[in-house]
Amino acid sequence: MENKRSSFTGKLGFVLAAAGSAVGLGNIWRFPYLAAKYGGGMFLLTYIVLAVTFGFTLMVAEISLGRKTQLSAISAFSKLDKRFSFLGYLASIVPVIILPYYSVIGGWVTKYLYVFASGGMQDAVKDDYFTNFISTPAEPVGWFLIFMALTAIIVLLGVEKGVEKVSKVMMPVLVVLTLFVAIYAMFMPGAMEGVKYYLTPDFSKFSATTVLAAMGQVFYSMSVMMAIMIAYGSFLDDSSNIARDGIIIAFSDLAVSLLSGIVMFTTMYGTGLQDMLATKSGPGLAFGVYPTAIVNLSKSGVFNAIFAFVFYFCLCTLAIDSAFSLVEGISTAFSDKFGTDKKKTTITLCVIAGVISLVYTTGAGLAVLDIVDNWCNSFTLILIGVLETIAIGWFFKTSKVVKEINRNSKKFKMPRVWFDIAVKFVAPVSLTVLFVWNIIDLFKNKGGIYGAADGYNLTSNILAGWLVFALCLVRGFVIPRFKGKNKQTETEETWED
Ligand code: PFF
Repeated sequence: MENKRSSFTGKLGFVLAAAGSAVGLGNIWRFPYLAAKYGGGMFLLTYIVLAVTFGFTLMVAEISLGRKTQLSAISAFSKLDKRFSFLGYLASIVPVIILPYYSVIGGWVTKYLYVFASGGMQDAVKDDYFTNFISTPAEPVGWFLIFMALTAIIVLLGVEKGVEKVSKVMMPVLVVLTLFVAIYAMFMPGAMEGVKYYLTPDFSKFSATTVLAAMGQVFYSMSVMMAIMIAYGSFLDDSSNIARDGIIIAFSDLAVSLLSGIVMFTTMYGTGLQDMLATKSGPGLAFGVYPTAIVNLSKSGVFNAIFAFVFYFCLCTLAIDSAFSLVEGISTAFSDKFGTDKKKTTITLCVIAGVISLVYTTGAGLAVLDIVDNWCNSFTLILIGVLETIAIGWFFKTSKVVKEINRNSKKFKMPRVWFDIAVKFVAPVSLTVLFVWNIIDLFKNKGGIYGAADGYNLTSNILAGWLVFALCLVRGFVIPRFKGKNKQTETEETWED
């Protein structure tokens, strides 16, 4: 069955959809807790440097691969060089791993939205509220299903009709609201201490662990190394300006993360909860902090309640937007490669994600989620980063990739020398070092960076983490060997001028 390739309506359509994929729960939930965990200012500095250098460069490179080939990851890589088709498979499995747990967290946000809409705001700031909510599976499963259904509906409506409209309205609103909470939170007594901790790098905290965590978060947040930006690029036509659009996407993503970091630190210090920063880590942290910040916004309960509702509404739509891109990335890759019907692929995918997500709603769910999330970002994405930079830097002719990135850009042009140094040398070498270091650390510290401090032992790390990693490798390297040939990739390399 033929699938018609949809495209974005208008020039803004792409920017908003790609930014919609990048800006999501990761900015509000993952970035601040990593900053809290890895030393505040030092993590922030490392993150900013990596985002504007590697993150941005690799994101525009991926978009240009998609636009040039008009194909999604699996087919694009095999079209450019058959030897790298495994890389397309490898990258396409990442959204399959992220989607179930991302949607479980999306379900939590939807639940909070409901609580705020129904006037239960004061309850949501009580200490055990979140812990009680996730301690029995029934409620989280219910909210997950609602979230997943909303996502599936938007995907089935198509790129133009669904996601663009949602992003167009919600993205600027979220930026303004987060800015508002951040400024307000700064006025809490003691909050400036938090800002200081967040903005002042303590160089004694710099370590390979900080770099690894920041790099994984850059990839995760910018939705790179996981087939998505290639799929989105493939919807673009020749007139699009990738260099300029890439700057807008990268900076909106960075801005929302930086602001939500300010909210996290000011609120924690302002409400005297700063000790939690060191002791309590992981998925639950942001879920306690944001409601606390909002309840303290003003003296007017009504104002706070309305604000909370609008804020969580934005968050929910952005989470759907990102989940949408996860589904879209996989289903486009799959239907491009195997000619399956996109609707059926989408529905099947949502059902599979639904089944897998049940794991995250069990008693050990939060720990499994934490481990899988960490492994996905600090092993799988880093490994794909190594392979993808080698492929692009050494086999796809960087001159042509850079030309594609700069094609319609007049003001900003990516310097070729920069691209060569970053993608050919610095990225593959440093990512390889990080990857190997992470594995050595895992065994030396019996559980690695996610071992002792978080109470996960080597066995649970290996069960939850390696299993997922092994699945990716099997998908990437083994399965393609048994697949038949794909019609669309029978033509040889087409990366001509
Ligand atoms: N970038 C999104 C976020 O930070 O919330 C999450 C995400 C979306 C990750 C799409 C991966 C992805 F493919």
